[in-house]
Amino acid sequence: MSPPRIIVTRKLPKPVEDRLRDSFIVALNPDDTPFTSDRLTLALKHADGMLCTVTDLFDEEILSAEGRRRTRIIANFGVGVNNIDLDAAEAQGLTITNTPDVLTDATADLAMALILAATRRMTESEAILRRGEWKQFAPTGFLGTGLQGKTLGIVGMGRIGEATARRAHFGFGMKIAYHSRSPKGPFDFPADGLTSLKRLLAVSDVVSLHLPGGGSNSGLISAEELAAMKPGAYLVNTARGDLVNEAALAHALREGRLAGAGLDVFAEEPHVPEALLTLPNVTLLPHIGSATVETRTAMGMLAVDNLEAFFDGRELPSKVV
Ligand code: DGY
Repeated sequence: MSPPRIIVTRKLPKPVEDRLRDSFIVALNPDDTPFTSDRLTLALKHADGMLCTVTDLFDEEILSAEGRRRTRIIANFGVGVNNIDLDAAEAQGLTITNTPDVLTDATADLAMALILAATRRMTESEAILRRGEWKQFAPTGFLGTGLQGKTLGIVGMGRIGEATARRAHFGFGMKIAYHSRSPKGPFDFPADGLTSLKRLLAVSDVVSLHLPGGGSNSGLISAEELAAMKPGAYLVNTARGDLVNEAALAHALREGRLAGAGLDVFAEEPHVPEALLTLPNVTLLPHIGSATVETRTAMGMLAVDNLEAFFDGRELPSKVV
C-alpha cells in the first residue's frame, strides 16, 4: 500500500520536513506562501492528511464543501485550535490534533519577557535612544515598576499560565493570583485562586492572559474589565488577540489608566491597530511566543507523531476531536 498523502500548508523546520518526506508522500510549501481558502478547500480533496497551522482558517464552509472527502486528519501546528471550527470538523468525522506541552516553556518565557518589557519601559526607552534623544543617565529617568512583592494575576491557569506564574514567583518574587474556569492546583508555589475575574483584575499589578481564543472568550477583556484593573497596572497577552478589545486597551494606555502593556498576539493578525502602533507604552511582538528553533522543531515533530499514529492506527499523542 502506498504511504498516505500529506499536504503541508507552511514551511517547517528542516528536520520536520525531512521526517515527513521519509514517512509520507508529502507536498511541502518551500516558499511559505500562505494558503488561500480555495487552496485549503482543494487540499482537503486531495490529501489524506493535512499539517496546517494557526494562520489556516478552516471554517464550516471549507470543512463541509461539496466533494471534500479525502482528508481524514488535520494536524495543527499550534496548541490553539481556534483557527478550526471543531464542531464542523467533528460533524465531518475529521480528526484534529494540536501541539500542547512542547511550547509551554518558550511561551511562558516570552510572557515573562513582556512583563519585564512593560514594567521596565523597554520599548519606550529604547525608542528614545535609537532616535538619538537620550541625553545622559538621570536618577529619575525612565523609572519603571519593580516586580518583587507585586501581584501577577493569571487569567487561565493552564500549562502556560502555571509556567508563567512559576517563573514570576521563583524568579522575580511576585505573588500569584489567578482566575480559571475549573479548579486548579495544587502548585509548588503559593497561589490565590479567585472565582471572580473582576476581583482578580482589581488586585493584580500585572495581568497576564493564558486562555484559548474564540467562542465565549472573545472580547473577555473589554472596556469594563480594563476599567476594573488597578490604576497604573500592566496587561500582557501571549494567548490570542481576540481576547482583548484592542481599541479599549489603546484608550486605557493613552489615558494612562494602564501604565503599559505587552502584546504578542492581535485580533486580526498580521494587522496591528494604528492606535497601538503609535503608543510608546506598549511592546508589540509578531506572535513569537513559541518561536525558538527547539520549540518550533518539537511542535512539528509532535504534529508528525500525530499523523504517523493516525495512519498506523495507534493512539494519538494529542487529539483534540
Ligand atoms: C499556538 O501554538 O497556538 C501559538 O499561538 C503558536 O505557537
